[in-house]
Amino acid sequence: EKGGYEHFMLKEIFEQPRSILDSMRGRMITEGNHLMMSGFREFENKFINAERILIVACGTSWHAGLVAEYLIEDFARIPVEVEYASEFRYRNPIIRESDIVIAISQSGETADTLAAIELAKSKGATIFGICNVVGSSIARTTDAGAYTHAGPEIGVASTKAFTAQVTVLTLIAMIMGAKRGTLETTKLHELMAELDNIPAKVERALKLDAQIQEISEKFKDATNFIYLGRGYNYPVALEGALKLKEISYIHAEGYPAAEMKHGPIALIDEQMPVVVIATKDSSYEKIVSNVQEVRARKGQVIAIVTEGDTTIPTMADHVIEIPETSEHLAPLLSVIPLQLLSYHIAVMRGCNVDQPRNLAKSVTVE
Ligand code: F6R
Repeated sequence: EKGGYEHFMLKEIFEQPRSILDSMRGRMITEGNHLMMSGFREFENKFINAERILIVACGTSWHAGLVAEYLIEDFARIPVEVEYASEFRYRNPIIRESDIVIAISQSGETADTLAAIELAKSKGATIFGICNVVGSSIARTTDAGAYTHAGPEIGVASTKAFTAQVTVLTLIAMIMGAKRGTLETTKLHELMAELDNIPAKVERALKLDAQIQEISEKFKDATNFIYLGRGYNYPVALEGALKLKEISYIHAEGYPAAEMKHGPIALIDEQMPVVVIATKDSSYEKIVSNVQEVRARKGQVIAIVTEGDTTIPTMADHVIEIPETSEHLAPLLSVIPLQLLSYHIAVMRGCNVDQPRNLAKSVTVE
């Protein structure tokens, strides 16, 4: 059942080239540059004319929502707010009939997300669900939706569901941008071609497994970790930190890299591993300075960089090279080494990676 893998989590990490492909199958036809999402079509006009989009989710699904905020605002130029479902439902939020609410949930059973949907529904908003489990409660209560088609996710720590969510949300942002005319056609076609290359690039990123295992050996006894990223890689920093704490029980914090100097930098000393996601994108120069700031305080830098980078390898203690891609699609690749890092560290610490203590796969109570 684990397909020869030692744990479901590892199997699910390695399934990602396939699950990402499944999440876009039939939705993106690169020949003729065709994009379609059946669940989306009925509410297409509402989406395109929306004054605002609210995203509600918890945990890893909330991180996928953060990536979607950047994508939708960039491609479709519609304001997006990403909310923790638990906060949204209890804080007397402003919800209008013209709002589109996107609820993201792997299990489709998360109590807080379900309650946030009910609240938004009662105010007349249109609810669009992005779920993995077919026929789940959230999939049934939403007005429309798109399944992520990642296949059953058994490991409690979410991996392939996250990349499938990000893929579906990327397609939605692209469709919205194309229909609104805010995403240039040439750019759209470039993105489609690049999205088509992602499964093969994830496959290449998975080849880093042995190298990541060696790095994990060096850090398995750490008591704290910091993860830094900017732009599209900021949600990935949060996700990397969440993966590590969930399954290895090492305390980890994810931050947008520029926030470091507003507090967390005080934590950095020779004992502190800092994972920096520093792929070649529009904030590359800025993140190079962040790496220097960490080095100056003797933090140990594990950098995720784009293949061929010659600058960061001169300053980082450990360098993990991932294939180059568009910055808009970066999370789909940069999250892979972080999933593997947390997996190997957890295994080396003797943790039950598929069923970490205190956690359940579906959080059906608030
Ligand atoms: C992280 C994790 C949790 C879930 C969260 C939401 O690995 O498993 O943080 O992401 O409980 O669950 P869903 O997506 O099922 O609503």
